[in-house]
Amino acid sequence: MSLRITSFEQYQEVYRQSVDDPDGFWDGVAREFVWQRPYDEVCRWEFDTPDVKWFVGGQLNITENALDRHIPTRGEERALLWEPNDPKVPSRTMTYRELLAETCRFANALKALGVGKGDRVILYMPMVPEMTVAVLACARIGAVHSVVFAGFSAKALADRIEDAQAKVVLTADGLNRGAKQVLLKPIVDEALAQVGCVQHVVVLRHLQAEVNMVMNRDCWWDHCVDGMPDHCHAVPMDSEDLLFILYTSGSTGKPKGVVHTCGGYMVYTAYTFQNVFQYEPGDVYWCTADLGWITGHSYIVYGPLLSGATTLMFEGIPTWPDAGRFWQVCQKWKVNQFYTAPTAIRSLMVSGTEPVLACDLTSLKVLGSVGEPINEEAWHWYHTHVGQGRCPVVDTWWQTETGGILLSGLGGLSPMKPAHAGLPLPGIQPVLLESNGQEIVESNTEGALCIKHPWPSMIRTTYGDHKRCREVYFSAFPGMYFTGDGAKRTADGMFRIIGRVDDVINVSGHRLGTAEIEDAINAHPAVVESAVVGFPHEVKGSGIHAFVICPDVGRDEADWQVEIVEVVSREIGKIAKPDRIQFVPGLPKTRSGKIMRRILRKVAEGQTGDLGDVSTLLDPSVVDAIIDGADRFKTGR
Ligand code: WTA
Repeated sequence: MSLRITSFEQYQEVYRQSVDDPDGFWDGVAREFVWQRPYDEVCRWEFDTPDVKWFVGGQLNITENALDRHIPTRGEERALLWEPNDPKVPSRTMTYRELLAETCRFANALKALGVGKGDRVILYMPMVPEMTVAVLACARIGAVHSVVFAGFSAKALADRIEDAQAKVVLTADGLNRGAKQVLLKPIVDEALAQVGCVQHVVVLRHLQAEVNMVMNRDCWWDHCVDGMPDHCHAVPMDSEDLLFILYTSGSTGKPKGVVHTCGGYMVYTAYTFQNVFQYEPGDVYWCTADLGWITGHSYIVYGPLLSGATTLMFEGIPTWPDAGRFWQVCQKWKVNQFYTAPTAIRSLMVSGTEPVLACDLTSLKVLGSVGEPINEEAWHWYHTHVGQGRCPVVDTWWQTETGGILLSGLGGLSPMKPAHAGLPLPGIQPVLLESNGQEIVESNTEGALCIKHPWPSMIRTTYGDHKRCREVYFSAFPGMYFTGDGAKRTADGMFRIIGRVDDVINVSGHRLGTAEIEDAINAHPAVVESAVVGFPHEVKGSGIHAFVICPDVGRDEADWQVEIVEVVSREIGKIAKPDRIQFVPGLPKTRSGKIMRRILRKVAEGQTGDLGDVSTLLDPSVVDAIIDGADRFKTGR
């Protein structure tokens, strides 16, 4: 199948059509898929409740579209390539026929464990083909998958299991990460000591590490699959039945479960995959994300497989065994489309161009960037050295909540501008708003980025708490989906993302809420209060600066810092460790008790010359103490 736009003029024409007649446009796209029952209506929506439904009344199974449908035409072609962490370990490949058979076998194994339509299954796994198989197996039988990034702590895992009320957890003995190994099963055991809903744990042997198995609860992956038939009926799903839940951080409270449904997600991820990356049959596509994030869901598994593509999954990290690993993998597999995060590019830039130039990268056609704004320096390095000046860079802006890419160039067709995500994809109607809701029409003016018309893969609800979905995304600007990002638009309509305007920070492309980190820090018994802000970090994009009130600190600051880092690692995971911990006598609060984060942000950025109006502070003197204390972070800024 091909949904691919092949010229810029065609994009302009299609875009116009998608705005003039959204239903007609999406109907045309959706017809490319296999529906077990045709839909009666393309879209029914209102953004007040909100209540959004796509392909209403239709029935489908996404795996039938991602696997079975391709068997007659490309059953023997490669669906999945797997590159291990250690280049000395053999890689693996699976054809579409093999991937379908493995999916069915695991789907049957899940059924034997009592998993059925609507049950929630948590995956806490290494980046191995079995994880893709398991995701698809859930979808095959209508179970709702929820992948938890395997860098999260036992506590964070337990919170997600509890919120999803998961019946089964899929995990492994452990994972490889560069030179390190991380044992996962003990983390799962610790999490399960805190929750009661899980009936079974399926454990994959990956490291051959010793594992504690709990009788009647835990079973080995290979035992579960052994003897299972390689056929499994693809359960009919309503378009709006849940496909998956993915937890993501917000401004307040605990991470929320973003809900995506079957029909719209299928249509949108396939459509955007083919257009943004300009994927052509036979190409090898590689996205370096982890399946624990939305990028892995939409653009390692679903988008590519729905398009009959060859998708590469990588277990390792960019810098091990050396800083040439990415480029060696590109050379080995003759990768055509390469999709990574700015933080990875920046971490490789420090090693110079030698590792890049040592590899044959002539297969590359399109380069992608995702997860955070890409700075111009990184953009040019990527374009010039990796893309040899000939590959277009697509800077794809989107979110867990959007399900797929909303703003981006189409590889090679659209104009590019460094650090600009570019134009809206067909069907996407972005607007920039002033804080009073007024639409900004003039160019180069920053505003809140909102979307005024639904698109098929948008968030449907936050699991178990629809009110929260409404409050977070649909109440700031009535009638609009609010993204939480600030952006500008050039005179020719290209968007530049400035960054989050809420209390979410992007650390190495990982999304974290400042409130969630504060809660973790406050879990230390000696901490009275804390406030966390982001600050510009050369490699990570944003670093984490924690201001902490801890009266007992005294002379042993370093010891306390270690303890606080430990507590954050325990509560959330190592990815949320503060880069800086500053003990302060107080926090800048207004008379009504609200922390003025604006001031803390300025201090963390080292811009203390211009703190703005501090007259509403309860005790302006704390600001001086905070500024003094931040002095020591100035070196290396
Ligand atoms: C940021 C990741 C600038 C943005 C797919 C967004 C970006 C948040 C870009 C979502 C980009 C993502 N340019 N910023 N190309 N892509 N972001 O949910 O702030 O992990 O709101 O989804 O990442 O992060 P999430």
